[in-house]
Amino acid sequence: MEAKQPVLELENVSVAYDSQAGMVQAVNDVSLKIYENTIVGLIGESGSGKSTLGNAIMRLLKNSAVLTNGTIKVNGKDVYQMDKKELQKFRWSQMSMVFQSAMNALNPVLTIEAQILDVLLSHHKKMSKKEARAKAVELMEIVSIDPSHLKSYPHELSGGMRQRVVIAIAIALDPKLVIMDEPTTALDVVVQRSILDKIKEIQKVKKFAILFISHDFSLVSELASKVAIMYAGRFVEVTDSQSLKQAEGHHPYTQGLIHAIPHLTADEVSIEGIPGNPPDLVDLPSGCAYHPRCPFANERCRIERPAISKVNNREIECHLYDVERKEVVKS
Ligand SMILES: Nc1ncnc2c1ncn2[C@@H]1O[C@H](COP(=O)(O)OP(=O)(O)OP(=O)(O)O)[C@@H](O)[C@H]1O
Ligand SMILES: [Mg+2]
Repeated sequence: MEAKQPVLELENVSVAYDSQAGMVQAVNDVSLKIYENTIVGLIGESGSGKSTLGNAIMRLLKNSAVLTNGTIKVNGKDVYQMDKKELQKFRWSQMSMVFQSAMNALNPVLTIEAQILDVLLSHHKKMSKKEARAKAVELMEIVSIDPSHLKSYPHELSGGMRQRVVIAIAIALDPKLVIMDEPTTALDVVVQRSILDKIKEIQKVKKFAILFISHDFSLVSELASKVAIMYAGRFVEVTDSQSLKQAEGHHPYTQGLIHAIPHLTADEVSIEGIPGNPPDLVDLPSGCAYHPRCPFANERCRIERPAISKVNNREIECHLYDVERKEVVKS
């Protein structure tokens, strides 16, 4: 079934920030494949490296961040082997990103139309202004905003509408990969729902692959077919989202996240948080970075970094799933 080339292929990707405190290992040896017409979720606590990875895929790493290891391929093309001109053409037309807080990053002094036209005309040198305007109208219709708002300035639109504009810009050039970094976090639940439905609806037609970044565990497990769970820069688990309904058989961190979802169907609302805090990425704990918070940690976890174990189509980085040892974790 998955014989096709992945739209996104990450192989052993590491990214570090060179900071005054030392090298911050924001992304630490992650691998993942995403195919067309699928949504893969990326979840993790604040500071776990999600945005850094998104920026790395776009080759838009900020400040002092560098790709220290690994390869990133989009449609089979190594993003870091392209020259500047090639990359400029490739970015937005083949891969695009809805940046975290993007709706607040629209240019306040330009109309919505001017901002959409800018993307279209800078990539389609032969496109006339008239054609670009027609395409802008079409894009507004796709994201269900009345095209009369093309003449509006960002402040004249609601947050939900601005976010839809940002999504329209991201899909303007029909990219094969769209990275969405917390695209609905700042919005209320009703608006969030309508935007997610819209994203799914557009994807049905356009068939792009989506890497959907969020810290909202239940939202991601509902939206995505596959989920990568990030902890301290690593994918501690990559699993199909269906399986996330149950805690058993997952990485202890994933189990913690599942238990942390409020269970409203119960007589009382019960939420169990995960004790402790995420580690300092400059000075990672030895062995498995999760061991200081893990209820199942043993001596081996303190010393040795776990390899990936394949368990029921899940990839889990945990000694408890090491097949040779045949130990199974109980949740
Ligand atoms: N400019 C920088 N210099 C040094 N470290 C940085 C810099 N930017 C980010 N980091 C560190 O890299 C880590 C990953 O940051 P990143 O923004 O990718 O996390 P995130 O998972 O997107 O978090 P959030 O959910 O809050 O958006 C963080 O621990 C952060 O401290
Ligand atoms: Mg982020």
